[in-house]
Amino acid sequence: MSILITGGAGYIGSHTCVTLIEAGYEVIIYDNLSNASHESIKRIEMITEQDITLIEADIQDKQALHKVFETYTIDAVIHFAGLKAVGESVQKPLTYYQNNIAGTLTLLEVMQAHHCKQIVFSSSATVYGDPASCPITEDFPLSATNPYGRSKLFIEEILRDMYRSDTEWKIVLLRYFNPIGAHPSGTIGEDPNGIPNNLVPFIAQTAIGKRDSLAIFGDDYDTHDGTGVRDYIHVMDLAQGHLDALDRISTFSEVMTINLGTGKGYSVLDVLKAFEKSVGKTIPYHIAPRRPGDIASCYADPSYAKKILGWQATRDINQMCQDSWRWQSNNPNGYNKEAQ
Ligand code: NAD
Ligand code: UFG
Repeated sequence: MSILITGGAGYIGSHTCVTLIEAGYEVIIYDNLSNASHESIKRIEMITEQDITLIEADIQDKQALHKVFETYTIDAVIHFAGLKAVGESVQKPLTYYQNNIAGTLTLLEVMQAHHCKQIVFSSSATVYGDPASCPITEDFPLSATNPYGRSKLFIEEILRDMYRSDTEWKIVLLRYFNPIGAHPSGTIGEDPNGIPNNLVPFIAQTAIGKRDSLAIFGDDYDTHDGTGVRDYIHVMDLAQGHLDALDRISTFSEVMTINLGTGKGYSVLDVLKAFEKSVGKTIPYHIAPRRPGDIASCYADPSYAKKILGWQATRDINQMCQDSWRWQSNNPNGYNKEAQ
C-alpha cells in the first residue's frame, strides 16, 4: 500500500512516516518545507534504513499534485500539511484560510480526479473550543476562537460534505490533544521556529539554557494547582493511531471522528516536575498573566478510539518528557546542524 503523506517532513508527520514504514507501508512525502527541512527526511531515512521519496511542493499546486497521482498509485492520503500557530493565525487569517482550507480543497479535487478516496485528516482538540466539562467525547459541541481552529472546523465540515456527495469516500478525522515527546532514538523531534509557543518545547529550551525562565501563564485557574491542565500525548502513540486508522480505513462506512488523547490531564506544574526529573535538575520558572484565549482544562475521553481502532496511548508523562529531553539534548538547535 502506498500512502501520500502531506506535511510528512513535519513533527507529527515524520514520526508517523517511521511507524508506517516499519509496518510495511510505502510512503511518499509531499511537503513544501515551509516548516520543516531536508534534514528531517534524512533522519527518517537513518531510522528506517530506507530511501524516502520527498516531493517538495505545495498542496495548493494542483499541477504538482496531479503529477504525483499520475506517477504513483496512491491508496490513501494522510493529510498533515497545514499552518498551526494560533497567534499567527489571528494576525494572518487569509494566509491560514488559503493554506489550510484552499490547500485541502485542491488536494481533495485532485484525489477525486484520480479516484483516490481514502483520507486521514489531522484535526485538533481546538475544535471543542472552551469545553463545558472534561473528559471530552467526540459529540461535544464544536466552536472556534481563532482562524487556525476555524480552519480545522471548516475542513471537518468539507470532508463530511465530500462523504455526503459520494459515500465511497473513506474519511477519518483524528482530533489530537497535545502532542509532545519524540522518537526514542532522539533522532527526530519537534523543531519549532523562533521562540516556542508550546509548553514542552519552551521547557526543553529553558532546560538546555537557550531560554532564561519558563513563564507559566496563570496560576489561578480552577484546576488542582491553579495552572492549565492538558492531555499530553506521546507523538509515537499518535503515530500508532494513524497506523491503526489506515489499517481499518477501508472498512468504515461513515466519516469517523476520533479523539486521540490519553484521557489524563496534567497541569503546567506537573509537566515541569516530570521534565525536571528527566533532566535531573530544576528548571527556572515564574508566574505570568493568563495567555488570552487559553482555557483551564482540556482532556479527552479516548474510549471511542479504543473501541473503533483498538488504539490506546501506552506512554506516560515521564516517558514523554524523557524522549523530548533526549531529542533536545542531542539536537540543541533542532535540525539546524550548522548552528550546533
Ligand atoms: P508541522 O508544522 O511540524 O508539520 C506540518 C508540515 O506541513 C510542515 O512540514 C510544513 O512544511 C508542511 N506544510 C504546511 N503547509 C503546507 C503546504 N501548503 N503544502 C505542503 N506542505 C505544507 O506541524 P505538526 O505539529 O506536525 O502538525 C501536523 C498537523 O497536525 C497540522 O495540520 C496541525 O494543525 C495538526 N495538529 C497539530 C497539533 C500540535 O500541537 N502539534 C495539535 C493538533 C493538530
Ligand atoms: N503554557 C505556559 N507557558 C508557555 C506555554 C504554554 O504556561 O510558555 C501553558 C498554557 O497556558 C497551557 C499549557 O501550557 O495551559 C499548554 O499550552 P500549549 O501552548 O503547549 O498548548 P495549547 O493547549 O494551548 O494548544 C495546543 C496547540 C493548539 C491545539 C491544542 C489542542 O498549540 O494548536 O493544543 O490540540 F489546538
